[in-house]
Order: sequence, then structure tokens, then C-alpha cells
Amino acid sequence: MIARRTLTVFSLLFALFAGQTLQQAAAVEVETSGDIQYYTLTNQQGLKVKLTNFGAIIMSIMVPDRNGKLGDVALGYDNMASYLNAVDKPYFGAIVGRYGNRIAKGKFVIAGSEYSLAINNPPNSLHGGVIGFDKVVWTGKVADEGEAVVLSYLSKDGEEGYPGNLNCQVTYTLTDDNEIVVDYLATTDKATPINLTQHTYFNLKGEGNGNILGHQLMLNANRYTPVNETLIPTGKTPEVQGTPFDFTKPKAIGKDINKENEQLTFGGGYDHNWVLDKGGKTGELTLAAKVYEPTTGRQLEISTTEPGIQFYCGNFLDGRLKGKSGKPYVHRGGFCLETQHFPDSPNQPSFPSTILQPEDEYVSQTVFKFSAK
Ligand code: BGC
Repeated sequence: MIARRTLTVFSLLFALFAGQTLQQAAAVEVETSGDIQYYTLTNQQGLKVKLTNFGAIIMSIMVPDRNGKLGDVALGYDNMASYLNAVDKPYFGAIVGRYGNRIAKGKFVIAGSEYSLAINNPPNSLHGGVIGFDKVVWTGKVADEGEAVVLSYLSKDGEEGYPGNLNCQVTYTLTDDNEIVVDYLATTDKATPINLTQHTYFNLKGEGNGNILGHQLMLNANRYTPVNETLIPTGKTPEVQGTPFDFTKPKAIGKDINKENEQLTFGGGYDHNWVLDKGGKTGELTLAAKVYEPTTGRQLEISTTEPGIQFYCGNFLDGRLKGKSGKPYVHRGGFCLETQHFPDSPNQPSFPSTILQPEDEYVSQTVFKFSAK
């Protein structure tokens, strides 16, 4: 049985009273089915985002192209059964945690105690373990102001081998400037690694419409963190200049992807973390990436407070999974740009720390801004 609730009128009234008619006046529609809620946020420009409290997953993002035609640019499914039963679960649209990306051999030490995680990506731990934050039911509510959805999850001490009760909150806000703002907040009662990220696979041509190799990517990063053959960083942060990893100026994703390069071999293509150029603004919101798709004119700009970004170009997609429109998700049929701290930081003393202490708060923000030209 599905109950429906529309907050359109409320949120518009709020926006008028707050004098913010053109800032944040997205309407939120809620559907409930058992423990699962689906939230559809619609802004004044017609951009529509559908998400669920299962895995804090973004299920679809309807974005206008240069002619105003809406297309769904996020890979995924239109029903819960597919998220639960798909043979392969590539983290479509989810929040990954407690630790996004890899921890070498699933081990780390905090204050002399060694912790062991499940090796779910041999020989390493990936994306929080067997049941990471992408596979749990979050508690969802529409924000009091009516334009955002707040999702909370308590990860208990010892869950997936991690120390400390970790209280997490992820807020998705849709603005009338066509931005999806993702705010992360967490506290713990024991020191623990934390690295939350958003794992949407984008295809700005529309999900299922072939590969993303023609998209032009700019990464605001002069350095990256090369990896070993198991995708664990070596600890070095060389310059990208003169390598296929140079995206400092917009470049088609496919341009250098088949070049002879050990790092591309290890990743099966791009599956690496770039060190963002923060221009001295560590911890502040700065531009991380820009992607432009020439045939539709759609553009995505990503800003973040995080120091790194994982650019993964769907190397493990192989056409077996079919998405919501029934079209196969072909090799490199979507790309992820996961804002984050660097992979394996708990074992890499030279990387910015990912250990959250009980007296501190984990605060992070990433903004996905869509446009067309
Ligand atoms: C990782 C890939 C991994 C993918 C899972 C990405 O964040 O970098 O190596 O295969 O997630 O879908």
C-alpha cells in the first residue's frame, strides 16, 4: 500500500515567506512502501531527483538538455527489487561508507588496536564491507523547510568491524539553481575511520544511451594517487602533466584511455583518486570537476569540501545489467566522480587523516550542479 504526501504548497509558501522564491523551493513528494520511502524533489526549473532511504540511493535525476528535453542522467533501477536482487551490485547512486574506497587487506590500527574488516574486494576491503551504508535502511524525513530530505543512520560499534557507534546524517537538497547539495554530518563515541561519498553513475546523454567516452572531463587537479595492481595507493602523488591522467583542461574521457600505461592497466581504465587543487582553501567548497556532453549540451559541475575525487569510468560494467529503461549498461556506460579523502588513508601516514575522534564532528559538502549549453 503506497501512501502519498505532497509538500508542494507548504514549501512554496515557505519560500515566499522566506523571500527565497528563486533559491530553494523544491517540492518534495513522498511515497511509502513498508520501511522504504521514495522521495521525489522537483525544482522550479523542472529538474527532478528521485531518491530512497534504502542505501540513501539517488534513483534518477531528470535534467533538461540544451533544447529543454528532460533525460535521466543517473544509472539505476525504477524498483526496489532490482536494487536488492541484481546479481552484481555496483553501488548505483548510493552513499558508500563507513569508508568509501579501499582499505588495504582490510586492516588498520588506531591507538595500538588492530581492526579487521571483511575482504569483499580481494585482497582488500571496499566501500564499507559486505553490508555497507549502500545496503542499509536509513531513516528519512523531509526537512522542516520542505526542500530537502534528511537521511540518518546509526552504524553500531563493531558493525562491519569498525569501532564506535557512528551517527550519520546525509541531507539532499535540490535548489532552483539546478544543484543537488549533499551535506554529510557524523559523530562517533570511539575513534574511527570515516570517508563517505556519493556513488551515482552519470551518463549525460541519458542512462542506457551507450558509453561515456565522448564526454569532456575537466578535473581541477595537478596530481593523483597512483596505485598498485590491487588498486591501493603507492603513497606517491606525482603530477599528471604529460600522462593520460591530465584532465586539467577539458578532454574527452576516451582520448587517452587506451594508451599504453601501467596505471590504466591496473584500473582497467580510469579508476583513480585525484588530489584536488584547493588553492589554499583546505576544507572549503571548491570546484573539483566539470563534465560536458557535446551531443545534448548537458553539463555537470562538482564542487566539494573534500581533498580528493575518485574518477571511475564504469570499467566493470559489461552490458549484463539492464537499467530502468531496459537498455543494457555497456562497458563504460556511466562514470562516477566520488568526492572523498584518499583511498587507504588509515594506512597512509602522508595522506590527510580520515580518523574521526569522539570530540570532533565529521562535516563535508558536495554540490552537483547541472546546466546545458
Ligand atoms: C571503485 C571501483 C569499484 C566501483 C564499484 C568505485 O568507487 O573505485 O574500483 O569497482 O566503485 O562499483
